[in-house]
Amino acid sequence: MKALTYHGPGQKSLDDHTKPVIVAPTDAIVKITKTTICGTDLHIMKGDVPTCTPGRILGHEGVGVIETVGAAVSAFKPGDHVLISCISACGKCIYCRKNMYSHCTTGGWILGNSIDGTQAEFVRIPYADNSLYPIPAGADEEALVMLSDILPTGFECGVLNGRVQPGSIVAIVGAGPIGLAALLTAQFFSPAELIMIDLDENRLDIAKRFGATATVNSRDGKAVATIMAMTEGRGVDTVIEAVGIPATFELCEALVGPGGVIANIGVHGTQVDLHLEHLWDRNITITTRLVDTVSTPMLLNVLRSNKIDPKLLITHHFTLDKIIDAYETFGHAAKSHALKVIISA
Ligand SMILES: NC(=O)c1ccc[n+]([C@@H]2O[C@H](COP(=O)([O-])OP(=O)(O)OC[C@H]3O[C@@H](n4cnc5c(N)ncnc54)[C@H](O)[C@@H]3O)[C@@H](O)[C@H]2O)c1
Ligand SMILES: [Zn+2]
Ligand SMILES: [Zn+2]
Repeated sequence: MKALTYHGPGQKSLDDHTKPVIVAPTDAIVKITKTTICGTDLHIMKGDVPTCTPGRILGHEGVGVIETVGAAVSAFKPGDHVLISCISACGKCIYCRKNMYSHCTTGGWILGNSIDGTQAEFVRIPYADNSLYPIPAGADEEALVMLSDILPTGFECGVLNGRVQPGSIVAIVGAGPIGLAALLTAQFFSPAELIMIDLDENRLDIAKRFGATATVNSRDGKAVATIMAMTEGRGVDTVIEAVGIPATFELCEALVGPGGVIANIGVHGTQVDLHLEHLWDRNITITTRLVDTVSTPMLLNVLRSNKIDPKLLITHHFTLDKIIDAYETFGHAAKSHALKVIISA
């Protein structure tokens, strides 16, 4: 089968691989129909994720059809259409029992990281009963690809950890797919202000269409002054970091108001300064989280009732044999205006 292989920082190719087989009785083999590329795949390509070693098939998002199941899989059978969670969960370990699937002792974020992923024709999904979700007949499978990772990530790591509340003032740094997913799902809680910050005017325009009440381009270095003016000098109640670089985390530290929350989503590959000399007396909370995907069943219901339309995030379509072009397009989003790219296998 064809698959996108990581060969170390800056190097990838579409190669021939042997088809995956059932290794444990809890496994399923899924024939991928649609997959996508994540900002985290770009972090891997930069060398920010040391657990992902050369030779790995990338990708942790997608939908497909079950081809075979191991003897212990009871919730799925061949032919079932399934949504693949970016997190694999045994359902039994100490962390799974706490709904912290991201830290499953034998699972977590392993797909396209420490085991082969979804940017391929077939993928082996460990703990299939807990890591796949049935796709209802007639559902829009492209929209569902947004539920593998970005919607639960924006919602759990950004909105829930950030304690977004009715009437609160929320700022989101980074208007990429993850920041936009946080923007869409923050609206479940009716915050008073949703301020989106990015360097890219196109993404800020999209954020306005997705419900941002204000947008700030931080390129001029005046974002803090602008947002302090907007909030009568108080800063914001929740600031969500959705980029993953020191400059944007430090921007969050400058924007958080007394009693506020900094909810970090970004994957950080380098050290960031914690400015306790400014923050020690501000009663703030800093949260970090690897998405647990515990909100997936709830988000599936929200989608079914058409309360949000994640298809808005899809800008480009490719076939698997053109995945290198898809990486080019996704990796140069300022030029290509890409958000999520759908890759059909
Ligand atoms: N915690 C988790 O479980 C989890 C899960 C998935 C993704 N992530 C991470 O979330 C982050 C966002 O993912 P994405 O797919 O949206 O990434 P992305 O690269 O598509 O988007 C990042 C956005 O940040 C903007 N940006 C870059 N530098 C900036 C700066 N100095 N100031 C303001 N904006 C700036 C870019 O213009 C872009 O719009 C990544 O770090 C990704 O790895 C984390
Ligand atoms: Zn991801
Ligand atoms: Zn577990």
